[in-house]
Amino acid sequence: MGEHRGTHVPVLLERCLELLAPALQLPGAVHVDFTLGLGGHAEAVLERFPEVVLIGLDRDTEALTHARHRLARFAGRTHLVHAVYDELPRVLEELDRPAIHSGLFDLGVSSLQLDEADRGFAYAQDAPLDMRMDQTSGFTAEQVVNEYEPGELVRILRVYGEEKFATRVVSSIVRERQKGRITSTSRLADLVKESIPAAARRTGGNPAKRTFQALRIEVNGELAALEAALPAALDALAPKGRLVVMSYQSLEDRIVKRALAARARSTGPVDLPVELPGTGPTLRLLTRGSEPAGEQEVADNPRAASVKLRAVERLDQDGTTGAARERPRMSTTHGGQGRLRPGEREEGEGKA
Ligand SMILES: C[S@@+](CC[C@H](N)C(=O)[O-])C[C@H]1O[C@@H](n2cnc3c(N)ncnc32)[C@H](O)[C@@H]1O
Repeated sequence: MGEHRGTHVPVLLERCLELLAPALQLPGAVHVDFTLGLGGHAEAVLERFPEVVLIGLDRDTEALTHARHRLARFAGRTHLVHAVYDELPRVLEELDRPAIHSGLFDLGVSSLQLDEADRGFAYAQDAPLDMRMDQTSGFTAEQVVNEYEPGELVRILRVYGEEKFATRVVSSIVRERQKGRITSTSRLADLVKESIPAAARRTGGNPAKRTFQALRIEVNGELAALEAALPAALDALAPKGRLVVMSYQSLEDRIVKRALAARARSTGPVDLPVELPGTGPTLRLLTRGSEPAGEQEVADNPRAASVKLRAVERLDQDGTTGAARERPRMSTTHGGQGRLRPGEREEGEGKA
């Protein structure tokens, strides 16, 4: 993403709480904050729902230290775990919690990561090219920039950064690295700026934004982790459990939309009047497409500008009970019950 997120205000906090509230009031509710960060959303959940047990995950040890301090007064009902969010099944097993009732993903980088110059996420501050959310393992952006084959770099910038001038940017990178390693965020940001045609530089914000987003996604394996984490989260969700996901760029949101829509429609034959066991929808969509933040929130909190929120509820009957049940007479996915027929578009498909 790379956009300014200097504020510490949790995005769409009231909307998240409103959507999750019915699940947070279930007896013995367990809430998983998959992206604990500075603990803003988690703190509000713990404050307003005094019975809820929180499992907070983050791959960033600094974020965990910060959140542990902030949530210290709730220590009796919190488990804060250093983990990538697709490790949920292992974490639940270790905590002996077979199911969860509520979950929140607030994707991307935290203001802590952006504000701490030495993490290398921000193109506006000079720092070593690191960009690892988990600084205890993995490879850095410096390694990607200096060691990847040019063709691979072009692919990453195009796919993860949606950078139209990927070939030009990579040509500059390759020329520069022949002279010596590129080690700093400002050198990279300057190189990107110099490679983009002047006319294109005048629109669309800082030209380095797309390259930095692409490198961050590559370094942290962000899309693969999300692809694996969503099914794991949905599998763990108890009946009437709810999940909210907030993404900040279209690649993430596309993954979220597909993962949720796939379980919100029938997988049975289109022309049968009844649902066969095991083929019914297991989720109900709680949002119409994706929800943005309101104007006032965006004015108060720049990070909210690109947010897309989606939410679902796990259905009581998941089609595995063995009983054939009547299929709702709907042909679209709205409300999450219908099944797409050939030629129909997935709800929200075609929107950014
Ligand atoms: C936008 S922040 C969350 C902010 C949080 N909701 C708050 O109120 O403070 C995202 C956090 O998710 C973490 N994160 C990103 N990808 C992750 C992953 N795959 N597994 C675990 N944590 C991840 C980041 O390290 C960062 O701390």
